[in-house]
Amino acid sequence: MSAAAPATKSVLSDAVQRIKPSATIAAGTKAKELKAAGHDVLSFTLGEPDFTTPQHICDAAKAAMDAGDTHYTAAAGTLQVKQAVCDLYARFYGLEYDPPQCVVSNGAKHSIHNVLTALCGPGDEVIIPTPYWVSYSDLVGLTGAKPVFVETTVESGWVMSPEQFESAITPSTKLLMLNSPTNPTGATYPPETLEQIARIAVERDIFVLSDEIYERLIYAGSEFRSFASFGKDVQEKTIIVSGVSKAYAMTGWRIGWALAPLEIAAGMAKLQSQETSCPSSISQAAAVAAVSGPQVCVEEMRLEFAERREYVLQRLKELPDLAYAEPGGAFYAFFDVSAHFGKPLGSKGVKVDNATDFCTALLEDQFVALVTGDAFGAPGYVRLSFATDLKTIEQGFDRITKFLGGA
Ligand SMILES: Cc1ncc(COP(=O)(O)O)c(C=O)c1O
Repeated sequence: MSAAAPATKSVLSDAVQRIKPSATIAAGTKAKELKAAGHDVLSFTLGEPDFTTPQHICDAAKAAMDAGDTHYTAAAGTLQVKQAVCDLYARFYGLEYDPPQCVVSNGAKHSIHNVLTALCGPGDEVIIPTPYWVSYSDLVGLTGAKPVFVETTVESGWVMSPEQFESAITPSTKLLMLNSPTNPTGATYPPETLEQIARIAVERDIFVLSDEIYERLIYAGSEFRSFASFGKDVQEKTIIVSGVSKAYAMTGWRIGWALAPLEIAAGMAKLQSQETSCPSSISQAAAVAAVSGPQVCVEEMRLEFAERREYVLQRLKELPDLAYAEPGGAFYAFFDVSAHFGKPLGSKGVKVDNATDFCTALLEDQFVALVTGDAFGAPGYVRLSFATDLKTIEQGFDRITKFLGGA
């Protein structure tokens, strides 16, 4: 009997071995590769507005360059950008924050990483309702803390109930990660539910990272409430995370922020001073123009998203056997394709038994790229981002219809 080959040991750290690459970025990259190879690919993978950044924001960046704002800034951001963010929260939500409570980072994803690194470590538990944005569990894993998943369902509109939250709490619970409107489902928590969750967090002494990056993309019938707005005691337990990527079509500028109690903000600023020194000076100047300039551009883009959402819901209704909940915010449709498992699909009649294989088969047969729900902790589901023009969405649905055996 031959001896078993010794397992090859990776040179990579345990922390990096624990995480997976971002599934949405991987799906987007695969679609781009097929496109580059000459295929007519329609990609609905990335959560990225297709609009260009409004002109007055680009102009502010050019002016900053011309004025020589090309140096390191304070680690947590310039006073101007922090003040502009605090003013925005006072204006929109009546929330009082001082600039030292604001930490501006290289995108909201970086802000989330900073919050988790500042607060969590081995032995801590972090509650995450599923389906969740792909990066949450891996960013928690990087800190050595343990993600604790709370399953929500399409029947509940993908909303975690206060009772579910309470029963997931243990003596090790440090943080709840809440995201409303939610990526990937578009679920938007009703204010009453948020308030009940907030009361439990205060009573049980648990911090809440409230990821509000889709706050400005809300559709008829839904309402956005900032988690910190349920009283001073709730604000003391809340770390708001948001940024300019989605509302102002500024994904490439990489500016996000966290608003937190002073001790946590100071911890994050210290961390950032060692990690990245500061976010880009030019992008910070652009972010000032975005949050303190005219907001009509945000509404114009929201109206376009609303029109696309209507169209997507219409097409989903016409497709056979797809369960879904209507998204109240963000720009995603999230639907259950499991009724199609085990049945012949596409031009070659392939059969699949999971959402990942469904996405691969759809891409290979019809060159339509979606993201598997497996990446979001929701097996059987797929995510379609409607942050792309109506014509592409129409063609995409024509191809999906064909793939499912329709006309
Ligand atoms: C829920 C959620 N949070 C945070 C982010 C990060 O946004 P950014 O890093 O571009 O600011 C995204 C991006 O897709 C997201 O969907």
